[in-house]
Amino acid sequence: TAEQTFRIAAVPADGVGIEVVESGRAVLDALAARSNGRFAFDWTEFPWGSAYYAEHGKMMADDGLEQLKAFDAVYFGAVGWPTVPDHVSLWGLRLRICQNFDQWANVRPVEFLPGVPSSLRTADRDDLDWVVVRENSEGEYAGLGGRNLAARGAGSEVAVQSALFTETGCERIMRFAFDLARTRARKKVSSVTKSNAQQYGMVLWDEVFERVAADYPDVETESVLVDAMAAKFVLRPEDLSVVVASNLHADILSDLGSAITGSLGLAASANLNPERRFPSMFEPVHGSAPDIAGQGLCNPLGAIGSAALMLEHFGLGDEAKTVRRAIEATTGSGIRTRDVGGTSTSAEVTDAVIGHLDNG
Ligand code: NAI
Ligand code: MG
Repeated sequence: TAEQTFRIAAVPADGVGIEVVESGRAVLDALAARSNGRFAFDWTEFPWGSAYYAEHGKMMADDGLEQLKAFDAVYFGAVGWPTVPDHVSLWGLRLRICQNFDQWANVRPVEFLPGVPSSLRTADRDDLDWVVVRENSEGEYAGLGGRNLAARGAGSEVAVQSALFTETGCERIMRFAFDLARTRARKKVSSVTKSNAQQYGMVLWDEVFERVAADYPDVETESVLVDAMAAKFVLRPEDLSVVVASNLHADILSDLGSAITGSLGLAASANLNPERRFPSMFEPVHGSAPDIAGQGLCNPLGAIGSAALMLEHFGLGDEAKTVRRAIEATTGSGIRTRDVGGTSTSAEVTDAVIGHLDNG
């Protein structure tokens, strides 16, 4: 038995989520096998998702959160399938875990990989190295609002979807972003706002940002409207390091960021409960990709990169670097899936990453 065993709950869920979780597990198990008994991973797989819904009328077991609590981390695939309305599947599984486990910081690195053609031909690895820090517990995804059909009748229905911004929620994600910026070569935090149009929540966001920034005089700051930030991602990538944004803004911007680096299939993410009162959850940014699911063609690197973030969370920073270097060696040697201009299968990419673990 190993010196340290990490218990991980695998929740592959739907579509390519099932395929990429298998890839990530294979890489981590290969890494553990090379650790000379220093660490091991003890996996428990949960069958939750849209197929489970078809059978049980719910996305996860009633006591699912209780079951997950016992684990060191959750390794998640992607949830959503055409048989279940997207808001039911997302709220029934992924958001349920994120919100109940208070995983309030969602960390999404955006980096170039060697050999992967970018949609921005003018940018390269030296100009683009960001982390999008997403507020992951409130904002536009607080689930506040309602619909009123009965009172107004068909054709006149009204819906309200409110965003919730609390000073505590804003402050903790901003401090997290500043602390992260201090660990990086470029010490800068860019706050994404829309306070010109949203005069309550986003103005509070801006005020808290200014107040927190004052505690970090060594970190450069800027505040940018979300629409301008979308343009800046494309036009001035070299001007960004840590980007802190609300739940919805960061959701959109991180997909844009991964598209700039070449594919949504590359992007990794960590949903952190920084206090470690609950398990944190690691998952690729992409969804279940029903258009390519089941063909063995999806890109496993977002999920494998997420596994590297999980290693960091476990205190295995050197091993996380080994996995990242193996990812770079793989793309650099031309072994790439179709979405990033290659012809390799998911399994070939996974095997190549495992093959490169030894030269870490
Ligand atoms: P998506 O991320 O599944 O797919 C968007 C595009 O990116 C598709 O063309 C897909 O083929 C491509 N793509 C995604 N992952 C890829 C990979 N690993 N390799 C290569 N190409 C990849 O987003 P979409 O189509 O909007 O949503 C599909 C389903 O996924 C929906 O049910 C949605 O609700 C769900 N979803 C779930 C998420 C999660 O569980 N965290 C996040 C986003 C969407
Ligand atoms: Mg998203």
